[in-house]
Amino acid sequence: MSLLDLKLKVNGKEYRVRVKPHKRLLDVLRDDLHLTGTKEGCGIGECGACTVIMDGRAVNACLVLAASAEGKEIYTIEGLEQDGKLHPLQEAFMRHNALQCGFCTPGMIMSAKALLDRNPHPTREEIKEAISGNLCRCTGYRQIIEAIEEVSRLPREE
Ligand code: FES
Ligand code: FES
Repeated sequence: MSLLDLKLKVNGKEYRVRVKPHKRLLDVLRDDLHLTGTKEGCGIGECGACTVIMDGRAVNACLVLAASAEGKEIYTIEGLEQDGKLHPLQEAFMRHNALQCGFCTPGMIMSAKALLDRNPHPTREEIKEAISGNLCRCTGYRQIIEAIEEVSRLPREE
């Protein structure tokens, strides 16, 4: 099978990879780029563990072919920390004990980030809607929603 040479932009950095045509973005992130913060749960678009941001939208990386991600701006959980400082969402999740096993957390935070980027002050219903595709087996969601709400109340740089 012939391989594809792709140029991917992830967390602001350009990567070149040579992959099989059917390789998923999730596998390229984890196996080729070693960005293992993005998790694989179901592999069929139902759990949200693999959520990344592509051109501003939260997407399930298990459902995206790496080839179709070429030319897009992709962000993973590894791209959130800046100069050694965690993103406010990451800090709020810790403060609110919004994680236990942590498996859902990267995807949950990326869905929350996509929401806050387009709607900095969402309602509780909008937060619930934004994370409705992210399953958590541990927390019961309350602390997750509270963490996101807290960040939505922070003053934002315009
Ligand atoms: S691993 Fe992608 S949605 Fe579950
Ligand atoms: S913290 Fe365990 S699945 Fe969410």
